[in-house]
Amino acid sequence: MNVVITGAARGIGLGFVEHYLSIGATVWACYRSDKSGLNRLGSDRLKTVQWDVTKEKDNGFIKTSAFPDLIDLLINNAGVYGPDKETGQSLDTVTPDDMLRLLDVNCVGPLRVVQRLKSRLISAKGKIANISSKMGSCEDNTSGGCYAYRASKSCLISVSKSMAIDLSPYDVRVITLHPGWVRTDMTQHSGLIDVESSVKGMAGIIDNIDHYSPGAFIAFDGKCIPY
Ligand SMILES: NC(=O)c1ccc[n+]([C@@H]2O[C@H](COP(=O)([O-])OP(=O)(O)OC[C@H]3O[C@@H](n4cnc5c(N)ncnc54)[C@H](OP(=O)(O)O)[C@@H]3O)[C@@H](O)[C@H]2O)c1
Repeated sequence: MNVVITGAARGIGLGFVEHYLSIGATVWACYRSDKSGLNRLGSDRLKTVQWDVTKEKDNGFIKTSAFPDLIDLLINNAGVYGPDKETGQSLDTVTPDDMLRLLDVNCVGPLRVVQRLKSRLISAKGKIANISSKMGSCEDNTSGGCYAYRASKSCLISVSKSMAIDLSPYDVRVITLHPGWVRTDMTQHSGLIDVESSVKGMAGIIDNIDHYSPGAFIAFDGKCIPY
């Protein structure tokens, strides 16, 4: 099985790399700039590729020759939280630049990656897992604030749903996932669950992707999230 993971050098992305290596997959682990987190995973089934998901074609964009002709699973995991929730993402403090920057990384990034790798996913009749967040659910939003992160993850849910519909005729399955509240750098290692539990849950959902409707938004524990 050939697996491509973005934002793979730390946090949940690194957890996915470890999981898929442990079950015998060959993993193309994409990192933005620093791949030191991947160095300790000595495996000849681990390939590393530098890919900043905000880069455009004429600006150091990824060479797809780095990837295999058949991609069985793409995990669009790379993401940023942006400025502090209270001081940088409130109604008074959030800036247009931050709104656009987070949209670029968290939503346009996964779209760029799929546009670039689509033919290889179609050839393999592969799967795509887009990692959003419950914070992107409008129905679940009871506390307000966090404008840039919430909006970027909402947009990703929408983009992921369109991808699911558009790629369904090619037998490519697409799902949107919420990892839970996970102890990583993004949460300053607060959170309710560790990376291993989150990844184990999401990998189980990916294994059973046919049980879910195209573009469904599912949490690591299998619960369907209204959006
Ligand atoms: N942790 C949670 O509780 C939680 C909850 C809901 C959703 N999520 C989502 O889960 C995903 C992983 O989160 P995490 O907690 O593992 O976060 P993390 O520890 O902050 O790791 C984020 C990863 O994304 C990469 N990244 C950031 N910008 C990138 C870019 N422009 N191009 C390529 N890679 C980029 C980072 O690379 P660098 O090392 O180069 O910065 C890093 O590898 C994110 O999409 C996040 O929004 C997390």
